[in-house]
Amino acid sequence: MIILGFESSCDDTGVSIFCSNRGVVINLVNNQSLIHKDYGGVVPELASRDHLNKISFLTNKAFEKSGLSFSDIDAVAYTIGPGLSGSLLIGSSFAQTAAWSMNIPAIPIHHLEGHLLSPLISNAKLEFPFISLLVSGGHTQLMAVNKIGDYNVIGETLDDAAGEAFDKIARLMGLDYCNGAEIAKLAVNGDPDVFQIPRPMFNSPSLDFSFSGLKTAAMIRIKELQSKEMFDHIARANIAASVQKSIIDILIHKSYLAVKRTGIKTIVVAGGVSANNLLRVTMLDSLKSLSCKVYFPPLELSTDNAAMISFAAYLRLKHNLINMNSLKYNLSVKPRWNLKDVNSIY
Ligand code: KG4
Ligand code: ZN
Repeated sequence: MIILGFESSCDDTGVSIFCSNRGVVINLVNNQSLIHKDYGGVVPELASRDHLNKISFLTNKAFEKSGLSFSDIDAVAYTIGPGLSGSLLIGSSFAQTAAWSMNIPAIPIHHLEGHLLSPLISNAKLEFPFISLLVSGGHTQLMAVNKIGDYNVIGETLDDAAGEAFDKIARLMGLDYCNGAEIAKLAVNGDPDVFQIPRPMFNSPSLDFSFSGLKTAAMIRIKELQSKEMFDHIARANIAASVQKSIIDILIHKSYLAVKRTGIKTIVVAGGVSANNLLRVTMLDSLKSLSCKVYFPPLELSTDNAAMISFAAYLRLKHNLINMNSLKYNLSVKPRWNLKDVNSIY
C-alpha cells in the first residue's frame, strides 16, 4: 500500500510518500521560520499563503524524486487538526482534491496522533502499552497508550507547552530563529549552574506540568542582565543552558513518575522538543534505573512532517480503524481537537 501524506497544521508544509514494504520513501518539509521571524510568532495569514505557494511544488518534487506517479497511490492522508484553521484548510483542500481526482480515499489524521505513533516508524520492536511524552510547540502531555486510538491523558501542562517556553525565551533573547533548537545550540557552550531557573511543580506528586513561571523567571533574569549591559555571549550561553536544563529536568522527572505510577515500562518521546539531544541522552540515562525502554522518532521526523501523517493513516488502515464509508469528501478541519476524542471521526 502506498500513501501520499500532507501536513500543514502550522508553519511547516510537508509532503511525504509512505510505502508499506519500503517505509518512508520520501519526506519533504518546507519550514516558514524566516517568513515569521520579524513578527514575534507565526502569522496565520502568512502561513496559509505560504502553504498554498509550496504545496503543489513539493508534491511534484516528491513524485519526481521518488520515481512514483499519482497512479501508484492507494490513499491520501492529511492533517485535519489541531492547528491554524487557514493552514489546515490548504492541506485538507489539496489532499481531498488529489484523492477525489484519483477516486481514492482521503484519510484525515490528528496531528498529535501522527507525532505519537512516529517512533514506530523506525522501531519495529516497540510494543503497546507504552507511556507517551508528547512535547511540541502547542502541547505537553503524558499519555498511557494502550493501543492505536486508545489514549489516556495522565498529565498535561496547566499553562505553556514546553516547546512554547523554549520559543518564548528564544524570542526574549533576540535569537534569529525563535525555537528550542537555537537555545540548544547556544547551550552547548553554557554552564547550566550559573543562573538558577526554577522548575515549577517539580516537587508536586501530580503528573501535570507548568512552564509559565519558568519563562517569567528567565525573562526577569534576561532583562536584568540586559539593563546592566551584561548580556554578553557567555551570559547568553549560560541562560540557554539553564533554561534547557530546567525544562528537561521537569520532563524527565514527570516521565519517571509516570512510569513508576503506571508500571508501564516503555516510554515513547515525540513532538518537536524530542529532537533535543540533551533530552534524548538524559532520558535514556535516567530511566535506566527503572529498566524502562525509551524510544524516540528518527531525528528528522521529530518536528512537524508529513511522513508521520501518512504512517499514522497506514497503521489505522492496517488495523481496520477507519470506517471507509464514513469518510466522505469533506473539506472541514478541526483546529481544536482533543486527542482523547480522536476516534470520533472514523
Ligand atoms: O512538533 P513541532 O514541530 O510543532 C508543533 O506541533 O508544535 O514542535 C515544535 C516545537 C517548537 O516549540 C520548537 O521550539 C521545539 O519543538 N523544538 C525544540 C528543538 N527542536 C524543536 N526544542 C528543544 N530542542 C530542540 N532541539
Ligand atoms: Zn507538531
